[in-house]
Amino acid sequence: MRILFVGEIVGKLGRLTVGRVLPNLRQSAKIAVVLGNAENLAHGKGVTTTTLAEVQSYGVDALTSGNHVFWRKEVNEVFEENDPPIIRPANYPEDIPGKGFKILDLGKDGKVLLVNLLGRTFFNEPVFCPFRTVDKILEDFAGEKFAAIVIDFHAEATSEQVAMGWYLDGRVTAVVGTHRHVPTADCWVMPQGTAFVTDIGMVGARHSVLGVEPQIIIDKLKDPRPQKFEWVEEGPAVFNSVLIGVKDGKAKSIERVDKVLE
Ligand SMILES: [Fe+2]
Ligand SMILES: [Fe+2]
Repeated sequence: MRILFVGEIVGKLGRLTVGRVLPNLRQSAKIAVVLGNAENLAHGKGVTTTTLAEVQSYGVDALTSGNHVFWRKEVNEVFEENDPPIIRPANYPEDIPGKGFKILDLGKDGKVLLVNLLGRTFFNEPVFCPFRTVDKILEDFAGEKFAAIVIDFHAEATSEQVAMGWYLDGRVTAVVGTHRHVPTADCWVMPQGTAFVTDIGMVGARHSVLGVEPQIIIDKLKDPRPQKFEWVEEGPAVFNSVLIGVKDGKAKSIERVDKVLE
């Protein structure tokens, strides 16, 4: 079975790029399930019902998120749905809307457990220990058989993500990282059969700083006065993803699938 995990889909250009790349890729690579990160889906900030429906229509089956998931209030309506397509970090307090994991039923291919976690290093977010949180989730589902268990660890520090890879090696199918919007070149299958990558990257504007108009970020770095973010919505786009080959719950392969659309 093959799982595609798409990096953070940033704004309208990111969504349109998913629409241009995914349907063909899904078919040609015989992908069983497509996952993606949605924290920047709606004009670069948070998610809405329409932007979620749009990427689902292109073939994204379920979405994780991160520290920007609550930037738009509309996400609360999404989280009130029965079994919404999107999850939020599992180590947020329990009274926060949404769930930190989701089970996808792929029929004859079995069930996939998707988990979202948020890092703590260099983050100022009210979260519990991601290591203990994932232990608890895996313990709660110890009696269930999954075709794959996939963790999106949304974190700032690469060391925290690499450490999580080692912590979960052999216990889950894949640990993939998000948040920085910059892909890393360290895809590999760890000794006990867990696929790992520190950062998948993003889908969005190439002529940008992580999706934002470059001059705004240059000014922000040179000038202490506040800047209004403008997201780049046209021009060349990048599509960053990883393709994971799975057999009997273990990862057999992981490779980057990156494209540039001029
Ligand atoms: Fe992001
Ligand atoms: Fe983030």
